[in-house]
Amino acid sequence: MTGRFALTRRLPDGYFDDALHTDVLKGLTGRPKTLPPKWFYDARGSELFEEITRLPEYYPTRAEHGILRERAGEIAAATGARTLVELGSGSSRKTRLLLDSLLRHGTLEHYAALDVSADALVAAGESLCRDYPDLEVTGCVTDLETDLGLPADARGPRLVAFLGGTLGNLDGEARPAFYARLRAELAPRDRLLMGVDLVKDPAVLVPAYDDAQGVTAEFDKNVLRVLNRELGAGFDLDAFRHRALWNPEEERIEMRLVSLRAQTVPLPVLEMSAEFEEGEETLTEIAVKFRRESLGAELSRAGFGLSHWWTDSEGRFALLLAEPSGTGGP
Ligand code: SAH
Ligand code: AVI
Repeated sequence: MTGRFALTRRLPDGYFDDALHTDVLKGLTGRPKTLPPKWFYDARGSELFEEITRLPEYYPTRAEHGILRERAGEIAAATGARTLVELGSGSSRKTRLLLDSLLRHGTLEHYAALDVSADALVAAGESLCRDYPDLEVTGCVTDLETDLGLPADARGPRLVAFLGGTLGNLDGEARPAFYARLRAELAPRDRLLMGVDLVKDPAVLVPAYDDAQGVTAEFDKNVLRVLNRELGAGFDLDAFRHRALWNPEEERIEMRLVSLRAQTVPLPVLEMSAEFEEGEETLTEIAVKFRRESLGAELSRAGFGLSHWWTDSEGRFALLLAEPSGTGGP
């Protein structure tokens, strides 16, 4: 690691072990079985996600990159951010467009990346420190579902970015809780920048989550590898199949791992085993797709006013800027 890149961990020691144990115990004993998507992102999972972003079928990253390329100057002018905080930053690749425009604007001093994946933070942080020698770059390993870890001492105005459509990995109950925690941390001049994927033809959506090369299937099954390594579990990856489907009522993609046979999988660290019926599905990720009106209303209920809404030329993906409104913040 370069000397300049500071990686911190705000959650107590053992937090991630405890969270994994709780999630797996709850998720594999419940019906339907579920596993939260945050466990995809070990080093291999983070690399697989990057591979997904380059697939011909997976349009969101390219669409969002295009919007950012076009709008980064406007975003810098509208926010005047001295600190850019990014939630679920991953490789921080698209973020470079924001860093460049905020530096050109002359306000940016600090980029704070927050992610559950220490591997992704270190890789991105080292590379950014090399390429942006005058910028303060910090990383914080955290779980957005517990602690947003926004650097409290960071100089404002702060721009909080949540890109890539990751908001869609939270369901209709988790999103208001997330907004409330975020809103409570924001000062009046801070801004929220979110990238969200939009509702569209399932014939476009489903292949984006079930590509011809099988990279998304590998990504999906990676959660089983993580369980094998972290819990000494005995998942046979060939005994599961990846499935992506469009849920029209919830307007979301669902990724599921289908058990190809009846099987009992040992989970020694949890002193239990999990029974799978033939054809039984474990929900591993939801990817909610949004509409402008309902998302604007959802944000408004949470104390955010939508100030900008930009889409790519094909109207597939949106980038929005929101400001704290009403009550809720400091
Ligand atoms: N923002 C990047 C990466 C998106 S992938 C982009 O737009 O390309 C989703 C990112 O969120 C991953 O880097 C993953 O490690 C992170 N992530 C997923 N669940 C998380 C959680 N609960 N807390 C913090 N980070 C999380
Ligand atoms: C990170 N997140 C927004 C991605 C998505 O599109 O839901 C994760 C992903 N899962 C499969 N492909 C991509």
